[in-house]
Amino acid sequence: MTNKLKYFIGNWKMFGDFSDFRIVQNINQFSFRTKSSLKKKKIILCIPSTLIHYFNKNLKNKFISLGAQNCHYYQNYGSFTGAVNAKMLKQAGAKYIILGHSENRSDGETNELIKKKIISSLKLKLNIVFCVGETLKERKKKNTFQVIRKQMTKSLIKNFDVNKIIIAYEPVWSIGSNKIPKISDLKKIVKYIKKDVKKALKLKNYPKVLYGGSVNSKNIRLFSSVHELDGFLIGGASRSTKEFIDIIKNYYK
Ligand code: PGA
Repeated sequence: MTNKLKYFIGNWKMFGDFSDFRIVQNINQFSFRTKSSLKKKKIILCIPSTLIHYFNKNLKNKFISLGAQNCHYYQNYGSFTGAVNAKMLKQAGAKYIILGHSENRSDGETNELIKKKIISSLKLKLNIVFCVGETLKERKKKNTFQVIRKQMTKSLIKNFDVNKIIIAYEPVWSIGSNKIPKISDLKKIVKYIKKDVKKALKLKNYPKVLYGGSVNSKNIRLFSSVHELDGFLIGGASRSTKEFIDIIKNYYK
């Protein structure tokens, strides 16, 4: 269940402009400098769609990857005002895409719609960061496992290439709140997700699972004891070069 390669994925959300290229450049430099000293790590920054092409074009010698944060489900061009599909994001330079984030689920995105987006992104060979997680109300009702299971089984299907899908467990109540789950609870949930998806999709290996929700350079040490985790989806803290780099450094301390 434990993999050596750890993912540190930034989710910039609806923040950032062209001048933030320096953040990307600095993190890219850091990734290069620590190639041998900080064991196996993969850094990905999921940025606003409007910045992908510019950042991708200007970043020389890429030691990190760029990703998008959502897409329209339709694979071809179509009359969908304001929408951007996986093909357009791939063309702009995205290698990864976050799908099923709770901020989009709370805007009306259903499990069925997320499945369509996964299908369309997989066709384009994008790597998917598929988010699942329970709300505070669901947690209080002790429905966490049930909720996650439903999100996974309704959006993931057997013939998906799960090598291209990373599951991010993000309890909704922990996003941007400075609250994190108890480490013992987190361990249980991560193991559950790995076992459940392996069984449901009849996989040979366990899928990769990340944790997301208020990860910062101070609490990252707590998470490093959860060996089953394959990395982190980092929101607010990924918009500061220093904080993001400190998270990675402190993880390996
Ligand atoms: P946060 O966001 O790290 O700011 O809590 C995580 C996310 O929404 O992916």
